Amino acid sequence: MANLSRLEDAIARGGYSALLDRVLITEEQLNRRVAELGAQISQDYAGKTPLLVCLLRGGVMFLADLMKHISAPHHVDFMAVSSYGVGARATRGQPRITLDLNTDVRGRHVLLVEDIIDSGHTIDHVLRLLQTREPASLRVCALLNKPARREVYVPISYLGFEIPDEFVFGYGLDLDEYFRNLPFIGVVKKEYQ
Ligand code: IMP
Ligand code: MG
Repeated sequence: MANLSRLEDAIARGGYSALLDRVLITEEQLNRRVAELGAQISQDYAGKTPLLVCLLRGGVMFLADLMKHISAPHHVDFMAVSSYGVGARATRGQPRITLDLNTDVRGRHVLLVEDIIDSGHTIDHVLRLLQTREPASLRVCALLNKPARREVYVPISYLGFEIPDEFVFGYGLDLDEYFRNLPFIGVVKKEYQ
């Protein structure tokens, strides 16, 4: 677990650069891949008016960019699931829905938009819950996948990038709630992971 005051000291001294080991995925790479995913989704869901369900908070930047590239008519809604405590690698509890959908998903083509699939427990929990509401289809679109850490199988229909087992931040992903605003994905220095 990251030492919070050490983390905050580092942020005060140098902003994100004090925590950054290296840039893993650049802004240009993200833009290009997100546009490709949007084009693919537009094709696959043509004529279906899918409901994009964004998992807060990490998925928000990905969703916002992805939507711009989805030419097919679609709706969006939001859910929040909490499973991690404070600290980059804080031990995980049972996933808990802290914000549920406002949309009835029965008969809808639902596409879950998630920042990263790590152990898989969060998305597995959401998939099981939404399945009970009888959507017409239910798929996952994830920006990042860390296959080395998978504990439960997750079917991923659309994937941005496969990444190694390192803690990353930026582009929606946080380090103790900081740095979701960065336009790239960076690897956190080992001493802060
Ligand atoms: P899972 O339930 O283990 O698959 O965890 C998924 C959630 O953990 C994601 O939605 C993220 O919020 C968070 N997470 C997992 N890995 C990282 C990371 O490297 N950086 C930031 N957040 C992460
Ligand atoms: Mg998070």
